[in-house]
Order: sequence, then structure tokens, then C-alpha cells
Amino acid sequence: MQLENAVNYIKEKTNGFVPDILLVLGSGLGGFTNGLNGVSIPYSEIEGFVPSTVTGHKGSLFFYSTGGKNVAVMQGRFHFYEGNSMETITYPIKLLNKLGAKIVILTNAAGALDTTLTPGDLMLISDHINLMGTNPLIGKNDDSMGERFPDMSQVYSLELRKRVFEAANEINIDLKEGVYAATTGPSYETPSEVKMLKTMGADVVGMSTVPEAIVANWLRMKVLGISLVSNYASGVTDSKLSHNEVLEIGKETSDKFKKLVNKIIEKI
Ligand code: HPA
Repeated sequence: MQLENAVNYIKEKTNGFVPDILLVLGSGLGGFTNGLNGVSIPYSEIEGFVPSTVTGHKGSLFFYSTGGKNVAVMQGRFHFYEGNSMETITYPIKLLNKLGAKIVILTNAAGALDTTLTPGDLMLISDHINLMGTNPLIGKNDDSMGERFPDMSQVYSLELRKRVFEAANEINIDLKEGVYAATTGPSYETPSEVKMLKTMGADVVGMSTVPEAIVANWLRMKVLGISLVSNYASGVTDSKLSHNEVLEIGKETSDKFKKLVNKIIEKI
């Protein structure tokens, strides 16, 4: 079986590393592992993984330990807009969970739906709205992994979110909190769509994270989501959107992001 083969391959390559935490890095945040000592496995070596086709996503799985915690880092994720199936997008979550990870930290770049958030802000995800028009759990349910109709009343662990705010306070980071709406992309939203998303109750919009969060919740993992606000969404200001702008803000904010994530890993 694909999943078993991949699990065994990783165990062999990492000398039986058992991750506590899976960290998924979003657009522009791939620099997180620079300077860290660990084992890196390219996606091309892992059965079931596909190459990352997006600029700013590296395409390797990195394993390291810090303060007694074992962390697996996905440097680059799989997106729906790349033509990947929901199965492919969420496969790494199942894989890392099989390897032992009980906590997943999903990060992404996202557009702010109004000016209460500013590009460069970090926002903890309190909840999401799935507007991808599908669900990764559609199909036959594997009851050994999770239930058919999983509850979604607290996908993003309240207990962990409290600890994240403590972490942010300790290092003087003004962390925001809000709701993430996921669209398929790859086109950005129209100004009217941005108004609709705001009316629905979302604070930021992006093109990832939700499929992984749904599957992690199904697997009874504890989930955290962090959005790096990379831009104002379409129509919030007059400027046009570009992926380069998203990557630039990621680089500019990477120190703050790195500090926060390191502190979170220490505290959870
Ligand atoms: N819209 C959708 N996805 C995004 C955006 C945006 O404005 N910024 C970064 N990812």
C-alpha cells in the first residue's frame, strides 16, 4: 500500500523519527528551515507525493528536533488549483499522522478582506469557511482513521490557540485572530467576491489550508492555522494583486513568523 510504503521509507531515512508536530509552510514562508540541522527528503522520493509546481514552494519534507520536540516540516504544499485531487492534497496529513504527529500547524499567505488587518500581520485562524466546492472526505470512509460525519465545531484547537496567544505576548508580537475563507483559485477574487466573503463572516481569503484542516480534524489531530496577511484582497484598495507581492511580504515578515512559530513549538 502506498501510505505504508511511504511511512516505511521515511522511517528508514530518518532512523525512526517520530514527529510530534507537523508544520506546513505556505507561500513565501519556505525559509523557515534555513540554518536548521535536520534530515531533508525531497518529495520526488516519497510515494504518493507530487512535485510542487508553485514558485515559493520548495518540495521537500524536513525533520528536526528542538527542545525535546520532534518536528516534520512540509516545505511546500499541494494546492487544488495545481490540478491536484483532494486526496493528493491531504495525503501528507495522513502520512505524517501515521508517523505519529498529533498536532499540525498549517500556515499560508492570505489576502485581508478589509483594512482592520494590514499586510505583514500574522493572524491565527479561529475558524474557516470552505468555498472550494468539494470536501476531501467525500468517498468511502476509512472508519479506522476517522468517522463518517466528523464534528467541525472546533477545528482549530481552542486550548492550543490560548497557548499561541501566550507565546505571541511573550515575544511582543501583535497576533490577530480571524476567519479564513478558502477558494479554489488560481485567479484572485473580484471586488464583488471580496465583499461577499466579508459579508459571510470571513476576515481573510486564500487558496489552501482548509482541505488539510478538514482531514486533520477527521484524524482527531489538534490543528492550528496561521495566516500571513500578504496583501489587501481585490477592491479593498486600488492596487492590483500579484503572486510576487505575496512572496515579497513573506520574505519581509519571515523573521517575525519564524520567531512566533519557534515559540509556539516550544509552548505546545
Ligand atoms: N486571495 C486569495 N488568495 C490569496 C490572496 C488573495 O488576496 N493573497 C494570498 N493568497
